[in-house]
Amino acid sequence: MVKKDIRITIEEYDSMPDLGQADMNLMELAESSLKDAYAVYSHYRVGAALILSNGKVITGNNQENAAYPSGLCAERVAMFYAKSQYPGESIEAIAISAKADTFTIKDAVAPCGACRQVMAEYEIQQKSPIRVVMKGETGPVLAVDSIEALLPLMFHAEELKRKK
Ligand code: THU
Repeated sequence: MVKKDIRITIEEYDSMPDLGQADMNLMELAESSLKDAYAVYSHYRVGAALILSNGKVITGNNQENAAYPSGLCAERVAMFYAKSQYPGESIEAIAISAKADTFTIKDAVAPCGACRQVMAEYEIQQKSPIRVVMKGETGPVLAVDSIEALLPLMFHAEELKRKK
């Protein structure tokens, strides 16, 4: 047995202005999308904004349901809308932010496992990386240049093919 380490690189920015203009614009749109979240059960609002290769920006927010698993995260709301409306375009970057009704979120919100898996699928399908920018209400902003950093050893379509 050997133990192997997997290294990932995460960018950490002390404040929004330290991000480049493009990331900052996207994050501002993610934050303004928070107000439209339907988060009546968790009271935890998430906003996402993604930019496509044609320059179009799509926003999304979490949509909850009394049958809890029927709800959907902000990131998947935005990604599924984007890829259903613009199937030929690549997702270049996605910004994510969150705000809770009853406490201050001090850490950057990181996408859940299911959203990471969906990002991974699109990244492989479109053959170009998706930049992920993450923010809480306070605290540093984090960014990664590819979903590979957030989902090492990812499961992808190649795994479905039989190998000789
Ligand atoms: N949520 C998101 O929308 N994105 C995330 O990355 C984490 C969690 C939502 C799902 C649910 O509506 C609420 O936040 C609490 O989990």
